[in-house]
Amino acid sequence: MIELHDIRKIYQLGGEEVHALDGVSLTIRDHEFVAIIGASGSGKSTLMNIIGCLDTADEGTYMIDGQEVSDLSERQQSILRNRKIGFIFQQFNLLPKLTAYENVELPLIYQGVSAHERRERVMEALEKVDLAHRVHHRPNQLSGGQQQRVAVARALVTRPTLILADEPTGNLDSHSTKDIMDLLKNLHAQGNTLVLITHDNEIAAQAPRRVRLFDGRIISDSRQDSDSSADGPEHLSDPDHTASADPLSGQTAASENQSEEQPQVSPGSRESSVDRNGGDAQ
Ligand SMILES: Nc1ncnc2c1ncn2[C@@H]1O[C@H](COP(=O)(O)OP(=O)(O)OP(=O)(O)O)[C@@H](O)[C@H]1O
Ligand SMILES: [Mg+2]
Repeated sequence: MIELHDIRKIYQLGGEEVHALDGVSLTIRDHEFVAIIGASGSGKSTLMNIIGCLDTADEGTYMIDGQEVSDLSERQQSILRNRKIGFIFQQFNLLPKLTAYENVELPLIYQGVSAHERRERVMEALEKVDLAHRVHHRPNQLSGGQQQRVAVARALVTRPTLILADEPTGNLDSHSTKDIMDLLKNLHAQGNTLVLITHDNEIAAQAPRRVRLFDGRIISDSRQDSDSSADGPEHLSDPDHTASADPLSGQTAASENQSEEQPQVSPGSRESSVDRNGGDAQ
């Protein structure tokens, strides 16, 4: 279980403060599938980096499975990351000189898993993403969709309980996007907690719960009643849910069912203007 309370992250840039996260409180229960949505610059990656213990908040508390993360040393945090969390990034983040096999094997080497067990687990992971026939290929010898499938295999080979995916389909065509979404939904169906970051409403609509960020704050948090894994086509064609959560429409989550959090902000109430559309946030 993930519990964020009043998380703030402020970047100082040329004497100006950027409030990348401006008081985010969020609880994600085990086995949930949550989409974090928001325009470019709204704070999605900043939030994911904090949830993934890749970065720390300036203020607020973050508990993962009842453990206050800021109480852990860097080394303890990296152990927690390695054991519990699988990351998938938009740019795949594979090591270019390593083969698909070696990329997937690496986190197991860090964990000190024996060579024999590594081999079994790497092959099992590559089979799951349908790439057992590409083990010796380097990233530049693979298509984008295949590279992302290697990255998914690398994320799942450690058997994490939490999968964090930051725009995992952002660089993929529609066919590969479907492959990756199917894989992620499968991981969720198998019991993993899945946090999927996207600015794409169609992708977000596939998640049973959607949290929308705007200027570093949560402006809506909506979920479907059933806690099934959103595989059904009804979830895919449900424009009302995302449309009613659009901050720019002036509407909030009030009309959505099961809204956990009250809208916390009216857009434009912040003095510092955060670049929402520049697309240069990463
Ligand atoms: N290292 C940094 N230094 C200064 N400002 C930063 C830094 N990282 C992020 N920011 C700013 O914080 C805000 C949130 O950035 P973040 O990367 O979380 O946005 P995002 O929602 O992931 O955007 P995108 O959809 O473009 O990936 C942005 O205004 C960005 O410019
Ligand atoms: Mg981002």
